[in-house]
Amino acid sequence: MGELRGTHVPVLLERCLELLAPALGRGGRTVHVDATLGLAGHAEAVLEANPETVLIGLDRDTEALAHARVRLARFADRVHLEHAVYDELPEVLDRLGYPGIDGILFDLGVSSLQLDAPDRGFAYAQDAPLDMRMDQTRGVTAEEVVNTYAHPDLARVLRVYGEEKFAGRIASAIIRERERARITSSARLAELVRDSIPAPARRTGGHPAKRTFQALRIEVNKELAALESALPSALDALTVGGRMVVLSYHSLEDRLTKVALADRVRSKGPIDLPVELPGSGPTFRLLSRGAELPGEAEVAANPRAASVRLRAAERLDPNATQQGRTDRERSRRRVKAMHQPGTGSAGSVRDPGTPGDDRGTDVEGEGHEH
Ligand SMILES: C[S@@+](CC[C@H](N)C(=O)[O-])C[C@H]1O[C@@H](n2cnc3c(N)ncnc32)[C@H](O)[C@@H]1O
Repeated sequence: MGELRGTHVPVLLERCLELLAPALGRGGRTVHVDATLGLAGHAEAVLEANPETVLIGLDRDTEALAHARVRLARFADRVHLEHAVYDELPEVLDRLGYPGIDGILFDLGVSSLQLDAPDRGFAYAQDAPLDMRMDQTRGVTAEEVVNTYAHPDLARVLRVYGEEKFAGRIASAIIRERERARITSSARLAELVRDSIPAPARRTGGHPAKRTFQALRIEVNKELAALESALPSALDALTVGGRMVVLSYHSLEDRLTKVALADRVRSKGPIDLPVELPGSGPTFRLLSRGAELPGEAEVAANPRAASVRLRAAERLDPNATQQGRTDRERSRRRVKAMHQPGTGSAGSVRDPGTPGDDRGTDVEGEGHEH
């Protein structure tokens, strides 16, 4: 198998390494999980930068794992590659005998390998069977979704996961077409979508089928359900000082990440007490201010980075932090600062707002460390 090293530029690589470094480089055999290994661009850089770190790489795509295995061959003595959905992390850690981890990265979405594959049906620009499964060994295909879902379900998938304004019209066109003949190819579906969108709308916002294809991919792979259950398990698995970094490419992914983190960075004690009650303090601190966006240079060098939003957090020591009055006051000041405009970090900028995002309930992070 050839190595696909040159075809994929890892997104926000330097920032990810910088965020993970204090957790992975703190001495001894540290453990890093790459929950979305893909072509192992991030994983390779983590292994190079942290010579003592053991990597556990997960991917639900066997083809990605095969490429990653070639790329990481020189690190074979400190790498475990696992065919798994990332919500299976607790079982994987159990099986491999790692009770706790020091770092974890989620680089969500599809890989360039999947998008560029002529036969997997992810791309509206190439004609292929409508598959779209990241794991081709199990699950329903996009062809089954398109040809069997009732109109309301199809329209909901397109509207919610694709943020598609014309979801109802596209769903109706799909249903009309499949009564005539089963829809089996990505080119036919892309054509149907284009034809069901009013002409003026076709001229804006990229390819008219982009949102439909994204929505079907999320549905086929049950991406949001897997993420929603994986994030709490990942946070639970981190040891004190351990760090999680999440790169999202869709407002729903980013929102799930924000909610999972918000639950851990808040005090659960009464707001008016001067000290934290035992066990009620925050268990994590944010390392990113809101969601970090890529800088212009990153987007110019790597178009895939255009829609990325980064969030990161570190596990706190429950015995050493956030116990006293000063910390409560600092926490209150932080909540107050939520209502004021934030500042960006070097090389990246703060998210002006996720669509549907109530910024007022966000909790600010500590920003860059020096
Ligand atoms: C954007 S790519 C990762 C690229 C990688 N960071 C790199 O540098 O090459 C995302 C990968 O995550 C995998 N993936 C997506 N959802 C997953 C899930 N729920 N469980 C496991 N792997 C998943 C995809 O198959 C894909 O290979």
